[in-house]
Parts: sequence; structure tokens; C-alpha cells
Amino acid sequence: MVGAGGIGGYFGGRLAAAGHDVRFIARGRHLEALRRDGLTVEGPAGGAAAGSPGGFSVPADALHATGDPAEAGPADFILLGVKTWQLPDALPLLKPLMKDGTAVLTTQNGVEAPAEVAEAVGRDAVLPGSAKIITYLEGPGRIRHVGGLGSLTFGEWNNRPSERVGALREALDGAGATAVVPQDIWAELWAKFLFVAPFGGLGAVTDAPIGALRSRPGTRRLLADAMTEIQEVARATGTVLPEDIVATTLDFVDQQPAEGTSSLQRDIAAGLPSELEAWTGAVVHLGARHSVPTPVNGFLHQVLGLREARAAERRAEAGAA
Ligand SMILES: NC(=O)c1ccc[n+]([C@@H]2O[C@H](COP(=O)([O-])OP(=O)(O)OC[C@H]3O[C@@H](n4cnc5c(N)ncnc54)[C@H](OP(=O)(O)O)[C@@H]3O)[C@@H](O)[C@H]2O)c1
Repeated sequence: MVGAGGIGGYFGGRLAAAGHDVRFIARGRHLEALRRDGLTVEGPAGGAAAGSPGGFSVPADALHATGDPAEAGPADFILLGVKTWQLPDALPLLKPLMKDGTAVLTTQNGVEAPAEVAEAVGRDAVLPGSAKIITYLEGPGRIRHVGGLGSLTFGEWNNRPSERVGALREALDGAGATAVVPQDIWAELWAKFLFVAPFGGLGAVTDAPIGALRSRPGTRRLLADAMTEIQEVARATGTVLPEDIVATTLDFVDQQPAEGTSSLQRDIAAGLPSELEAWTGAVVHLGARHSVPTPVNGFLHQVLGLREARAAERRAEAGAA
């Protein structure tokens, strides 16, 4: 697990708890806690204590947590669980973990992480992937699993069946996580992107949860328009999504808990670095590259980009003070 936060901690924890040899690359106080106390994942049953249904823990000696990838040794599989904006710093960590046949599973929201990772490790090594779950790092050594399917969807770059995809699916399924190998992994990545980017961008601009966004006709229409832009950009890049994908995604929006917000919204509200460029920003620059107009996403990107820039200035000032 390169990055042991919400995603790496949850899926790595599941695999380690099932007896797989999992090594965690982490840092700072989280690393110290993993080495000292092990990992605790608290379950979705609203405050379920670790160890009760839905929660689990993994003792420190079963985690092999380290800050040094050379210590972790070469791996059959690497799950890349860092945020998109952390990839440039994290990719150099992969080299000592690679051997012939190592597969690097991406989990980042958006559609561009696989290509960025492929530049570092080669396209043959990359399994583009997508996580359907809501988890976060609650504190050092502690992951909170809020909900979602708890699934990882992944495949080979060209969607061919392969032994390593089968082996990873079996390991995850056997560890109490759901593994999905779709016919077209790119369509899956784009379909999730079509949900998260509009929900994230509009939520961040309005500071409103999903229940409010979907119930006002004006913001519901903006959600639908932002999704349609993504459908068109996907088509221009060669991924044809189902004709009714905007309608079915709005149905999915309607099924979400009304208070739900995205990590993009929460990070921007907290003045933290966010995945804006990989979400809304990617819609805009991919649209520009393929001559697809993206006015709604473009507006969201400009407004949020300014907020992000000002937050970065404030962080820099606070750091210098
Ligand atoms: N969490 C979810 O529910 C969810 C669902 C679907 C998709 N995703 C996607 O999955 C990706 C990961 O999200 P996440 O929620 O798991 O993020 P996260 O909780 O912030 O975890 C990232 C972890 O990676 C660590 N890290 C980053 N760079 C590192 C480095 N160079 N060396 C060692 N550790 C490093 C971070 O440490 P620091 O804290 O020290 O930076 C943090 O512990 C994102 O792209 C997100 O969009 C997340």
C-alpha cells in the first residue's frame, strides 16, 4: 500500500486481516501509530467500535509499516492510495517496489491518474482502478469507514483478462472487500467521474450538501449540465457512455444521504490542498484539448481555483510566520 489513508488503510487492512502479506508505506504520526498500535478500521454502523460488526483491527506486527519502500521489498501488487496532487512525490517511491510483472493499481478519482502513473512505471504495469467506498483517516492509525459499497473496480489497461487481475479479484473477494472486473474499465472510470466532479465542484462552490443541490431546480439543472459536459468530453476521448447516463447518475444522486459532501468540498472548505485540478480542472482541460465546450465546469473551475490559490497563500503565510 503506497499511501495508507482512507483507501490504502481500508483495503490494505482487509487484505492484511485476511492473512495476506501486505506492506504499508506511510509517514509521520500515522506511520508511528501503525508501527506501535497497528491499524483500526471502525465500521459503517454509525460509531461501531473496532472489533464489533463492521469494524476490524490489524496488529502492528501484521502490517509491516515503513517509510522506506526499499525496506518493503518488491511486490506483486501495489495499491496506490495517495491523493492525485500527491502523485508526483509518491511515484518515485514505486521503483524499489517493482519487479517483473508488478501491477500498480490506481484508485484516484478522475480519469488521468493511470496515464500519470504509466509515465513512471510503464503502461503494462498499470491496472486502472476505481474505489466505491467512503472512508477517511480519522487519526493516526485509525480509519473510519462511513459507507459505500466497499468495492474496488479494476482491469488491465486494454481490458484483456489476465491472471494477475484474477488473482487480485480472488484476494479481495476472499478478504471481505468486493472486487469488480468490468468489461471496460475506462467506461467505469468516466462514469464515476461524471458523478464525482459535478457533485464535488458544485458542492464546493455552494457549500451545500447533496440533498440541497438536488432539490433546487436550478442547482439540479447545473448538476445535469456539468454531467452532460463530461459525457461529451468522454465521447471525444473515445469512451462512449450509455445515452441515459446523466439520468441514471441523477437517480444515484437522489439515493445518497442528504447530508453527503465530497472530499473536494470538505478539503476546499478547510483551506487544504484539494483534487480540484484532477476533477473539475480535468474536465476543462480535456474539453479544451478535444474542442468540447465545458462552460459549467469552466465556471466552477475558475471560482474554486481562486479559492484554492488564496488558501495556498494563507498556508504559505502561516508557514512563514
Ligand atoms: N476515501 C474515499 O472514500 C475515496 C473513495 C473513492 C476514491 N478515493 C480516491 O482515492 C485517493 C486516495 O484518497 P484517500 O481518501 O485514501 O486519501 P487520504 O486519506 O488522504 O490518504 C492518502 C495517504 O497517503 C499518504 N501519502 C501521501 N503521499 C505520501 C508519500 N509520499 N509517502 C507516504 N505517504 C504518503 C498521506 O499521508 P499525509 O496525510 O501525510 O499526506 C495519507 O495518509 C484519492 O484520489 C481519492 O479521490 C477516495
